[in-house]
Amino acid sequence: MSKQIRLGVVGCGYWGPNLVRNFRALPECQLKMMCDISKDRLKHLTSLYPEVEAELNFDHMLNGVGLDAVIVATSVKLHFPMAKAALLSGKHVFIEKPMASSSEQCAELVSIARQKGLVLMIGHTFLYSPAVRKIKEIVDRGDLGEIRYICARRLNLGLFQKDINVAWDLAPHDISIILHLLEQFPISVNCRGSAHVTPGIEDVTSMSLTFKNDRSAIIHSSWLDPRKVREMTIVGSKRMIVYDDVALQEKIRVFDARVERPPHYDTFAEFHYAYHYGDTYSPYIKQEEPLKTECQHFLDCIQHDKEPLTNGSQGTDLVRILEASSQSLKAGGGQIVLHQLDAARSPASLGVAPFVRDVKEKNGKSHVPVGVIAEPHVA
Ligand SMILES: NC(=O)c1ccc[n+]([C@@H]2O[C@H](COP(=O)([O-])OP(=O)(O)OC[C@H]3O[C@@H](n4cnc5c(N)ncnc54)[C@H](O)[C@@H]3O)[C@@H](O)[C@H]2O)c1
Repeated sequence: MSKQIRLGVVGCGYWGPNLVRNFRALPECQLKMMCDISKDRLKHLTSLYPEVEAELNFDHMLNGVGLDAVIVATSVKLHFPMAKAALLSGKHVFIEKPMASSSEQCAELVSIARQKGLVLMIGHTFLYSPAVRKIKEIVDRGDLGEIRYICARRLNLGLFQKDINVAWDLAPHDISIILHLLEQFPISVNCRGSAHVTPGIEDVTSMSLTFKNDRSAIIHSSWLDPRKVREMTIVGSKRMIVYDDVALQEKIRVFDARVERPPHYDTFAEFHYAYHYGDTYSPYIKQEEPLKTECQHFLDCIQHDKEPLTNGSQGTDLVRILEASSQSLKAGGGQIVLHQLDAARSPASLGVAPFVRDVKEKNGKSHVPVGVIAEPHVA
């Protein structure tokens, strides 16, 4: 497709306007329509972008103005019905994270997009950030050695959501980064949390993911913290990285630090841990808005018939982990084991295999394994 891609954005609340601003600035597309059920939101956005049509009714947006693609930035429960309707009417679709309310819904969207040959991309924005791309480069070069564990903290005051808990709201960012770095799917999930403000909706959660080879990750998410914290520590056998996304400079610091146990010893007196402290450095990171790169990628995928880096199968994997976290919360933090898919429910049957192949072809390397879990269970 070489002509301008005609786009519509549905959901112009807090996040949608960022998508509107970015897509509007990209020459490969024409932002034709902004849709929201709120007249006030549309009035505000029309004052900023008078040339873009405003629409209160999503069905009218789908059927009226000859769009090629739809961006879904509404609350999570609306992602599935809106994305499904858009795909069925032949539009390429970009859905904000998390992809949908259940992995079953995600699999259905993947399957429709595949049958219709449409691009389905998920807004795992951090994978487009220069900082995360730099970390991935360092990890893939082997500078950290074997990754042992990752600890992520994403805390601030609000924004409180009514239909999802804080894990579904904030943890998708951390989970997407962790899966991207480890290129592994967890074997189990534990999650504990508490609801202090809205009954039944956890505003503080602590999730832990267990991977093969004793790798693990801990994700602390909170809407109840006075400071804005976006921090991730990646601990390798040779070096460690601290990534502070709030820092204006030196977002990434690489520490030449490690600890080793003596391979063998005869007496307690001979036993010493070997602590190594070397240099710390902060690599150069290009200043670039991740969302702009993400929006550009969506357009590139449509124009060149490519599979997105953050495709529907990755969105599905992430929602499976969130589902398991909700089950664990209900079980008081119990371990939820994520099963391998059996032959009848193999990735191919979920419409995933071609995506794996395409991503391999595009990047020359493997996609995060997706051949895992359908129905988690409490161990
Ligand atoms: N990628 C990121 O970094 C990032 C950041 C924040 C939010 N998000 C995601 O963006 C999405 C939206 O989040 P938000 O915080 O902007 O929510 P929000 O509640 O502020 O906005 C949702 C908007 O959808 C509108 N809406 C509701 N029903 C509608 C309908 N039937 N038709 C048209 N419009 C309708 C609402 O009026 C509202 O303006 C969520 O999926 C969220 O997880 C992503």
